[in-house]
Amino acid sequence: MVKVVYVADDGTRNEVDAQPGISLMQTAITQGIDGIVGECGGSAMCATCHVYVDPDWIDRLPPRSDVEEEMLECTVSARKDNSRLSCQITAGPEIDGIVVHMPPEQI
Ligand code: FES
Repeated sequence: MVKVVYVADDGTRNEVDAQPGISLMQTAITQGIDGIVGECGGSAMCATCHVYVDPDWIDRLPPRSDVEEEMLECTVSARKDNSRLSCQITAGPEIDGIVVHMPPEQI
């Protein structure tokens, strides 16, 4: 299992065990984490799974694809340097313990 820490906009922290190979969006949905919607089901078509990756972890992720880059222009909450689509981040040992912050709004 891979530890993922989701931090809500109000500072509430939820630590969950993610299955390797499953996206952080899907993990949040199945674990009942509020603040990630995942409207398109993970095909990088909605930007409602927007997260701000903790600065300590951002460099450990693979770079954004062109599709993710484009979709991040459509987020409801402001895009930042550490913005990512959580449906495009796959849980794996290299990100065990990752911390992601949810934006104030997704829709
Ligand atoms: S779930 Fe739609 S872009 Fe991630």
